[in-house]
Amino acid sequence: NKVVLAYSGGLDTSVIVPWLRENYGCEVVCFTADVGQGLQELEGLEQKAKASGACQLVVKDLKEEFVKDYIYPCLRAGAVYERKYLLGTSMARPVIAKAMVDVAKEVGADAVSHGCTGKGNDQVRFELTFFALIPALNVVVPWREWDITGREDAIEYAQKHNVPVPVTKKSIYSRDRNLWHLSHEGDILEDPANEPKKDMYMMSVDPEDAPNTPEYIEIGIVSGIPVSLNGKEPSPANLLSELNEIGGRHGIGRIDMVENRLVGMKSRGVYETPGGTILFSAVRELEALTLDRETMQVKDSLALKYAELVYAGRWFDPLRESMDAFMEQITRTTTGSVTLKLYKGSVTVTSRKSPYSLYREDISSFETGQIYNQADAGGFIRLYGLPMRVRAMLEKGM
Ligand code: ARG
Ligand code: SIN
Repeated sequence: NKVVLAYSGGLDTSVIVPWLRENYGCEVVCFTADVGQGLQELEGLEQKAKASGACQLVVKDLKEEFVKDYIYPCLRAGAVYERKYLLGTSMARPVIAKAMVDVAKEVGADAVSHGCTGKGNDQVRFELTFFALIPALNVVVPWREWDITGREDAIEYAQKHNVPVPVTKKSIYSRDRNLWHLSHEGDILEDPANEPKKDMYMMSVDPEDAPNTPEYIEIGIVSGIPVSLNGKEPSPANLLSELNEIGGRHGIGRIDMVENRLVGMKSRGVYETPGGTILFSAVRELEALTLDRETMQVKDSLALKYAELVYAGRWFDPLRESMDAFMEQITRTTTGSVTLKLYKGSVTVTSRKSPYSLYREDISSFETGQIYNQADAGGFIRLYGLPMRVRAMLEKGM
């Protein structure tokens, strides 16, 4: 009788430990995934977990797996939710939930638990992943059961159970950080008419305060996947964290939006995705060289659905997996390099090159013309416009 709890060390998950022991009479194994949320969050965590009553803390470094198997497929697909959101939190939940399932098997647990509220998307993402990978696993969700409603309640519950209240200062925002992004929700952001405060941001400087000189970077891409930065080939996680650093100091990748949650409500969130924003620009630009019109249209239309599935927690849905196979196939030629200029919050493409480029100067140039015969255009336009001419003739009684 053991449960694996997705544990962060914050007040909520610290209170869940004694609550699970009291209400389910089970041993609690705490699990923390390192998805690049920042090392200060991992320090002293084992003591904390044990002080709350956990029998064990398991920490897994998922950073490379997260970038390689979750972030990069979404990047390759061009997945953007509701025109703006680059899915940072959405992609992290399945990799964490999958690792929890592995831990449950390792320690012989028959249940898992998480600290997501009953109002959000995250609960769906965790639980759909559990369902998909191990349908018989029990899922305990304290937020949907208990009557602890606020911070004061939680502190009182902790004190009553002799659990030290985490000293970590509770931020006024609900934040979620990983290698791809940092999200901010709550407090003054709950009124969509409020501009975010300057001091809220953590991954990027204000574009107004960014350097007055632009910085150029070159990104190498193979089959829709970034492989190099300025000629060096760091691991996926290192490449991304380096790009976050660079993009962050130029104020790149701030997004402020109102989005539709899966559970039906609208919510307002602000996201910082510096490295991700740069990578999206680079991949997209390369595809302008390598994809023909119709292929690009079909890819972009499927990308919408792909993003929706990821947002809704359906990572391990055969539909997403099949669409991923399509994306892999269609981006086989998304290979080459892109140079970008970063300046006060903007990413400008200055150069793109690909061995699979469909662009031919000898065809497109105003100067020359062997393959493309301008005289052909007349016949093409007459036939292409035939339906329009027929309709116009009808209207004019011809
Ligand atoms: N609204 C975003 C999403 O659904 C971010 C959620 C942030 N999650 C959190 N636990 N703070 O993906
Ligand atoms: C939560 O409610 O746990 C966080 C927000 C979300 O999941 O969308």
